[in-house]
Amino acid sequence: MNQEHIQPRHERVYLHPLPVRIWHWLNALGFLVLIVTGFQIRYVDLMGLMSFETAVQLHNWVGLAVVANWFLWFIYYLFSERATNYHPDLNPKSFFQRYFLQAVYYGWGYFHGAERPHKVRPSDKFNPLQKLTYQFIMFISAPLTFLTGLMMWDVQRFQGLIDLAGGLRVVNTVHVVMFILFVMFVLVHVYMGFLGKKPSSHYKEMVTGYEEPHE
Ligand code: HEM
Repeated sequence: MNQEHIQPRHERVYLHPLPVRIWHWLNALGFLVLIVTGFQIRYVDLMGLMSFETAVQLHNWVGLAVVANWFLWFIYYLFSERATNYHPDLNPKSFFQRYFLQAVYYGWGYFHGAERPHKVRPSDKFNPLQKLTYQFIMFISAPLTFLTGLMMWDVQRFQGLIDLAGGLRVVNTVHVVMFILFVMFVLVHVYMGFLGKKPSSHYKEMVTGYEEPHE
């Protein structure tokens, strides 16, 4: 008997293409620097990691790099057939039913060896929880943070836009609320990253691009 009949060969599934992985890890590094320098700028009296001026300079330049990197991600998905991963679900009822099932899985099933409710495919790799979160982070929070950051970077140049938004205080509040949201997102995101077949599975996947064996 041929070996393949004894041991069925599992195709390795290619989940994360190279541009997505490059974007992701540069983005993660960029966000860490933005969060630390953001804290330093906001709580200048509490933190002494670097001078206020250095923190502002670093925050501005890394911010611009993260915006440029966002466009790498956006343009890649715009022209890729994998954009389906970010498409909204057109049946909200079934989407939220699956959303609920996934939440129950993370809260209970995962710790009791239940089967994953979402079947991962390259064209549909996110479960409903991931999908909604990533859509919100990438299409709402990130652009809002970039825009408000840009407005505060050169207040004179963007005065018209700042007035339109309701003034500098509004712009600053939106930026800080997004900052708090990102900090919470990164904490939950890093934790959820450990909830794969093995704690290292999702991290390996984001490095090699290939799904780790699941069954
Ligand atoms: C230390 C920081 C971070 C770590 C360790 C980390 C880890 C991971 C891991 C393991 C995955 C693959 C599992 C999955 O698809 O859910 C992933 C995917 C993802 N992460 Fe992160 N992440 C970090 C920061 C960030 C930040 C700051 C953002 C956005 C602001 C982000 C957005 C995403 C998105 C959108 C995906 C899905 C990418 C795609 O396949 O299109 N991550 N992350």
